[in-house]
Amino acid sequence: MPGTAVIGLQWGDEAKGKIVDLLTSQHDIVVRYQGGANAGHTVVVGDEVYKLSLLPSGVLTAGVTCVIAGGVVFNPAKAIEELDELESRNVEDCDNLKLSDRIHVIFPWHFAEDRALDSNTSDGENIGTTGRGIGPCYRDKVGRSHAVRLGDMYRSTFREQIEHITAAKNRVLASMFPDGDLQPLDAEEIFEQYSAFAERLKPYVADTTDYLLTAAESGKRILFEGAQGALLDVDHGTYPFVTSSNSSGVGISNGSGLPARYVNKVIGIVKAYSTRVGGGPFPTELDNEIGQRIRDQGNEYGTVTKRPRRCGWLDAVAVRYTTRLSGVDSICVMLLDVLSGLDELLICTAYELDGQQSTVFPSHVDDVRRVKPVFETLPGWQEDITKVRKLADLPANARAYLDRVSQLVGVPVEMVSVGPARDQTIPVSPG
Ligand code: GDP
Ligand code: IMO
Ligand code: MG
Repeated sequence: MPGTAVIGLQWGDEAKGKIVDLLTSQHDIVVRYQGGANAGHTVVVGDEVYKLSLLPSGVLTAGVTCVIAGGVVFNPAKAIEELDELESRNVEDCDNLKLSDRIHVIFPWHFAEDRALDSNTSDGENIGTTGRGIGPCYRDKVGRSHAVRLGDMYRSTFREQIEHITAAKNRVLASMFPDGDLQPLDAEEIFEQYSAFAERLKPYVADTTDYLLTAAESGKRILFEGAQGALLDVDHGTYPFVTSSNSSGVGISNGSGLPARYVNKVIGIVKAYSTRVGGGPFPTELDNEIGQRIRDQGNEYGTVTKRPRRCGWLDAVAVRYTTRLSGVDSICVMLLDVLSGLDELLICTAYELDGQQSTVFPSHVDDVRRVKPVFETLPGWQEDITKVRKLADLPANARAYLDRVSQLVGVPVEMVSVGPARDQTIPVSPG
């Protein structure tokens, strides 16, 4: 009864979508369980490139059931847009989609609050959110009084609920936008718009908690598709420069409603270097021509916001931390091809803080800002590796790099990716 999780071990965009797509055919169900349309997962199938923000990447494989579980914050317009796009591109299997009636719904006030609050952190540095209303929606979920779950939209009380919340939100938004650059929101308009969304999505809405429990109990194979990366985890990441959900392995249970014992294997996804979008500390950041070279070579521009991603060397202190935190069994090292052509490769093996060396990832953001990375230098390789399909055919220096990463992180490498396509993947047999 294998339950497998795919978890990003850095700051997101580790190429989780590619690995989820590759593993989908070995599973019956693929589950998104946290985050929302802040994610952008790219799957390349032949000449077709799919960018999914909300629908699980499993939707591209026929015969698999895709579930958006209760821990997700849900933008119905975005879900409909993705369903319509897939339909127009002849991806026919969207009928096998189940949306939890417990998911919290994102409303226009959440977008407005996201905009207002992100430029107003006490720290002075912006979080640089994706602007998708994620944080405000999670805040309302925990706050309870102004939240709407998908199941609420099919109740006779929905209109009243919207009227009540819109009135309250208009009072809050008036103080957030004192210059009057936001028109008050119209409850009737929102009610009409969201009622239409509800009607369109009705065939997919289900009690996914019960569905998943029954599936797990009867031995169905479930693949958990993590969004973001463990360093963006709201409890264990570089707080407050994080997202608002548990994006490390610890979030699987509460987001999906399945007890942890149904997760038998955790696969960590690691980019061969590091990237980060938005604000927050990044000890191994390369604000120089090597960073720009990696950005160009890896096409490191955001899937969701198109922002240039910040690039840097691989940080083994951070990845060892998130590997342990997420209970990772093995890692996939992605985008190794991007490092081809560099004379030397650096890996951060420890941090120096106040004259002391440590391999512990600091809990306070100010300390993460202050650490000096201690680097180990490895020789690079010049060959183009995008056509390599066997580990033995990789240049010796590339193999040595993978060995060293595995040793520092503490778990074996299971797959290596040398390009976006499905077949640009090298399996690594245990040994
Ligand atoms: P995710 O959010 O973790 O699913 O990752 P993204 O889709 O945001 O970003 C990963 C990007 O790298 C996508 O554009 C992928 O098509 C691409 N990609 C995946 N694997 C490889 C690889 O091995 N080499 C290269 N060059 N690109 C890759
Ligand atoms: P995938 O699933 C990379 C980042 C944002 C910002 C912070 C908070 O594609 O890996 P939010 O909108 O969530 O409140 O923004 O988190 N962020 C991501 N960075 N990949 C993602 O998802 C991300 N989702 C959120 O850039 O710094
Ligand atoms: Mg992404």
